[in-house]
Amino acid sequence: MEPNAPPCPVCDYHEVEIHLYGGAECPNCGTEFEIGPGGRLTPHDNSIEEMSKTWPDTIPWHTSADELTKSAEALLVALGTEGGFSVDMDLVPCSDLLYVCSIRGSERTIPENIISVDDILSFRAEHLDPLASGMIFGAWVDSGLVYFDLSKNFNTLSDAMAAAVENDQQAIWDNVEKFVVPVANQRAVVAAMGDNGWIASPEFSQFFNDATGGQYAPSQAPQWSFQKPEHQAFHDEFLNHTGNFDQHIETSIPDYRGLMTRKAVAISKAFGPQATVIDLMGGEGSWGKALTATGGNPTTTLDANTDMHNFFNQHSTVPGARRINEAFGQGYSDGGTTYPAHQGSELYDVVNESMGFQFISADRLGQINQAKTMLKPGGLFMTDEKVVTPNFKENEATKDEWKAQFYSPEQLAQKQQVVNIAGEPATGMMANMVSVEQLEQVLHGLFKSVQRYWDQGNFLGYACSDNPQTVQKFLAAYDGSDVPSTQVSQWKAA
Ligand SMILES: C[S@@+](CC[C@H](N)C(=O)[O-])C[C@H]1O[C@@H](n2cnc3c(N)ncnc32)[C@H](O)[C@@H]1O
Repeated sequence: MEPNAPPCPVCDYHEVEIHLYGGAECPNCGTEFEIGPGGRLTPHDNSIEEMSKTWPDTIPWHTSADELTKSAEALLVALGTEGGFSVDMDLVPCSDLLYVCSIRGSERTIPENIISVDDILSFRAEHLDPLASGMIFGAWVDSGLVYFDLSKNFNTLSDAMAAAVENDQQAIWDNVEKFVVPVANQRAVVAAMGDNGWIASPEFSQFFNDATGGQYAPSQAPQWSFQKPEHQAFHDEFLNHTGNFDQHIETSIPDYRGLMTRKAVAISKAFGPQATVIDLMGGEGSWGKALTATGGNPTTTLDANTDMHNFFNQHSTVPGARRINEAFGQGYSDGGTTYPAHQGSELYDVVNESMGFQFISADRLGQINQAKTMLKPGGLFMTDEKVVTPNFKENEATKDEWKAQFYSPEQLAQKQQVVNIAGEPATGMMANMVSVEQLEQVLHGLFKSVQRYWDQGNFLGYACSDNPQTVQKFLAAYDGSDVPSTQVSQWKAA
């Protein structure tokens, strides 16, 4: 209750409530009032209320000062009822926003208890030029303050992220999924990598062709040895099917061969031989073949690369293991080959994705949402990917130390030239990586149960399901302590 509030002019009740965003209400008779000069209460003009109820669609295209004022009044109400607004130069709410990034230097804060229609009108007037060029006037309420800013709409998360880094922003607004995406970590990475960290899309497919053809073989081929016999047995089988890309990736990412081996063994142990598995962006398909051969599980490798597909078909055959040479997400053409979008309607017990998403886009929500459509109800989704962590630079140095076991300084320098600073062929494009927070936010948003099972610095693995027991079963069967040694060295356990 406001101590100096006048009594209700309708029923004379003395505890009229003053609203934060203007106006008052009598809790006794329910009448709503506007507060005039000297605190006088006059019955509320319901036309504004009606307008805000149907907001955002009914506010017309404004031309006159009167109409602008009326819109600003409705927006003031919207601040209270909706917590914010995004409007164009005519104070008309924007309805088609995707990824929104604030523009440096435009922010203004006003205590929420004194915010007025004039504040909205004057912010608009001061920024008429940028607003006329298509920028957005945004407002939101946080901890007693109303924030105004100018922002820009982007069609992709990556573009918005790049703008956020350029504009020194902490976060962007993902209007598609309605959540705040932090960019603090990305900024650290861009600072570490230099200005070109956001190179749009270097072509990696030629690299995949060259790598599967053997052009990026390590100078020292590793021979992994596991402590657990079931892990060793899987790995021995894997060697019957493995290709050059397998060797490249396992020498580029610490403990990658250990991870894939432990996962395969855990899948058949936890879910039995009938459990069906699809490996998205599964490369040469050797992992799927070895899983079928050892655990009996029917496997599908989905990966768009014809050289890898030929290798899969020509190198070895495992009944029950197939490879589909189609694209996850949208279809595309590359080097004269067209990869149609995979349209399969089959559902799987396990959907696995390892180091694939970051070669396609940064849209983890869209990708994982799509991956989930391939999952049987209560099935297991697993993702292993390179993410942006708070200690990104230090973790990269550790990873480089690992790689130096297998590659000469000349080889590393040569590869660095190929991939520049945009990313690495085995691990993905910088611009398509997301932060650990973003990834976890997406996973928790899509699945009831999410558990991290693998941590190698900037490389993390998560098991997810809508059935928590599925995740528990998998974790119980997964022995993360059996990190293989090579003839080169014993790597640190995660
Ligand atoms: C780093 S590799 C990961 C390979 C595999 N997961 C492994 O462990 O060896 C990334 C793979 O993504 C595949 N790829 C890239 N874009 C794709 C798309 N849109 N659809 C399907 N596969 C794609 C490439 O052909 C490549 O084999």
